[in-house]
Amino acid sequence: MTERRTRYPGPIAAAAVHPHGLVAQGFAEDAALAAVLDRYPADLFDINLYDYDDEGQVSLRTGARGRLDGGQLLEAIQQGRLWVNMRDVERGWPELWRATMAEFDRVMGDAYPGLKAASRNGQLILSSPKARVPYHFDASGVILFHLRGRKRLFVFPGDEAHLPERSMEQVIARQTTEEIPYVRAFEQDAQAIDLEPGQALTWPFFAPHRVENLDRFCVSLSVDFQTWASRFRRGALYTNAVLRSRGGTPRSTDRMGQAELAARWAASVLLKRTGALKSRLEGFERDFEPDVGAVDGAGRLSVDPAGGQG
Ligand SMILES: [Fe+2]
Repeated sequence: MTERRTRYPGPIAAAAVHPHGLVAQGFAEDAALAAVLDRYPADLFDINLYDYDDEGQVSLRTGARGRLDGGQLLEAIQQGRLWVNMRDVERGWPELWRATMAEFDRVMGDAYPGLKAASRNGQLILSSPKARVPYHFDASGVILFHLRGRKRLFVFPGDEAHLPERSMEQVIARQTTEEIPYVRAFEQDAQAIDLEPGQALTWPFFAPHRVENLDRFCVSLSVDFQTWASRFRRGALYTNAVLRSRGGTPRSTDRMGQAELAARWAASVLLKRTGALKSRLEGFERDFEPDVGAVDGAGRLSVDPAGGQG
């Protein structure tokens, strides 16, 4: 049996690679990408540029969609140092989503027959040859379908040392733009996996990870999903964040049984509805617009603020 690299339950005990059949369908070719970039809703783009200091600590600049057409935007990504995330693929590119869901069912059904996804959500990620995504966790299960280029994933243990619950609460309740804390010493605990087109990667629920592109323009589709167990846990962490903001000292979700986790999830649904904890991430400023030939692919913002919405 594989060693469990997480304290969270679920059928995925460690990072694992699975073959998938999405590449041959042509979704990641230049013409298809340029066309989808042209029509993808501007409010579904996240455009990030990450800088790292000598200790591996990250700072983030964020981009507006800008005015480039699809072909130019693709060129800016291929030449620059950008990480472009197109959210809600189910809405933005239904054909890709349908094909991906067929692969999701096949891959997950073969590898983790007990796993029941209660919800699924897709993000298409286009990233520059030298882009690197910093250490973070996703509050869900994830399968990453790799479609083009080469990238290296580093997956870390999901224990309290690498994934402190207090930091998870802050991220889940959207109280910080910071990710969970990272130190270089974690690297010795990483599982490193190189991904080629046609391979998909799964890892344990919530496990921290980071990504380095291996000198190629990369296209991946990340599908995050919730089971009822992961949803209960995420909700419990949100409720704990609210309790802590009111001076409470909630205990770790590790010590809660399913009934208590479910009750805390139910509380989180009500707390969100009543707006108990306001997200501190709304309305933040953008730093740049993608531009072909600009340093890192990051050009100046256009003066017309509507330019970012077009
Ligand atoms: Fe991630």
